[in-house]
Amino acid sequence: MANPVKIAVIGGGYGTKVSLPVLSQLPEFDPVAIWSRRAERARELAADAGLELGTADFDALLGHPGLEAVHVATPVTMHAEVAIDAARRGLHVLCEKPLAADLDEALRLTGAIEAAGVVGAVNYGRRLQATRARLLERVREVVGRPRMISVSLVHDDHAEPGSRPFTWVQDADMGGGRLQGYGVHDLDLVLAAFGDVEAVAAATEVGVPKRVDGDGNERRVTAEDTYALLLRFAGGGIAVLTLLSTARHKRGDVVEVHGDAGTVRLDAERRLWWGRAGEELRCEGPLEADSKDAFAQVARRFWAAIREGAPPDPSLAEGLRVQALLDAVYAAGSERRWVEPRRLSAD
Ligand SMILES: NC(=O)c1ccc[n+]([C@@H]2O[C@H](COP(=O)([O-])OP(=O)(O)OC[C@H]3O[C@@H](n4cnc5c(N)ncnc54)[C@H](OP(=O)(O)O)[C@@H]3O)[C@@H](O)[C@H]2O)c1
Repeated sequence: MANPVKIAVIGGGYGTKVSLPVLSQLPEFDPVAIWSRRAERARELAADAGLELGTADFDALLGHPGLEAVHVATPVTMHAEVAIDAARRGLHVLCEKPLAADLDEALRLTGAIEAAGVVGAVNYGRRLQATRARLLERVREVVGRPRMISVSLVHDDHAEPGSRPFTWVQDADMGGGRLQGYGVHDLDLVLAAFGDVEAVAAATEVGVPKRVDGDGNERRVTAEDTYALLLRFAGGGIAVLTLLSTARHKRGDVVEVHGDAGTVRLDAERRLWWGRAGEELRCEGPLEADSKDAFAQVARRFWAAIREGAPPDPSLAEGLRVQALLDAVYAAGSERRWVEPRRLSAD
């Protein structure tokens, strides 16, 4: 493709497992640089992928000649600083989810992108996986007015103290926790299905309280590995979102949507069931839930926003709506009360 976007990947985790391999395959992009916290690792990653630059120095990365865009895939509390710096240098920004540590910081980030006149987007790509994309289509087709939506995730990857080292993901002060990992995708899903949330209640827990970090030190886990959220929609209906990452027996994700006109269900085998009132449920699937494919769709849309002026999708406005809800969830969990999400000026 003529004129691919020269992009840097900022982060050596998801950035190297998903983003870099996908961007390297897409004709719309020319990945030129990568950032890792460790300089030696950054150089190795760059050499392996044939990139021009691998560095632990943000200044060198963002100032790389010819660079046009960045994918920010750092720990959550670093997103804002990096994204704002990039936007001020005229670089387009694809930011990982959630946008930032809280709504005020997310608003500073989106404000800087708007002021710079660059393209900004947020990677809520999980809703583009076939399982969830088809679910949303069927919800619009058959469900009608919402009565109840439930999203139940049962994972076993945090069950053992040794199953994962202590990193920022277990550190609440760094924006870690399963709410940032999975909960935000599910908040994004229910917002896409049913719109505004009036109030939220939340319970969170740390089931495995100690883990060992990369230096062999035992650390206290402060970020939740378990949550149960209750949401009341402004237009009526309620949602229950739960995640357990310390289960002894994992299970595929289950999503059920009930409305006054019909039902949609995604079962644990990735089959989708749907029907209108009075009909037998029909079934399709199993459907794909591929994270690389979802990221490729997000990346192509980011390219179209940069080169063709298409509206960014998923948009920063959608990222802010999830962020307002996430702030309300954290407050509801720690204060043990119902919390109304802050209204955004666009609402
Ligand atoms: N959209 C999705 O489905 C999805 C999936 C997974 C993650 N993500 C997002 O991607 C972002 C990064 O997550 P990840 O799982 O890739 O994280 P990660 O692997 O732990 O780290 C990502 C990068 O940040 C560096 N880093 C880690 N801890 C740090 C610290 N305490 N201070 C400074 N730098 C640190 C790492 O350095 P090293 O290179 O030296 O290790 C790495 O380069 C997050 O925003 C997360 O929400 C999104």
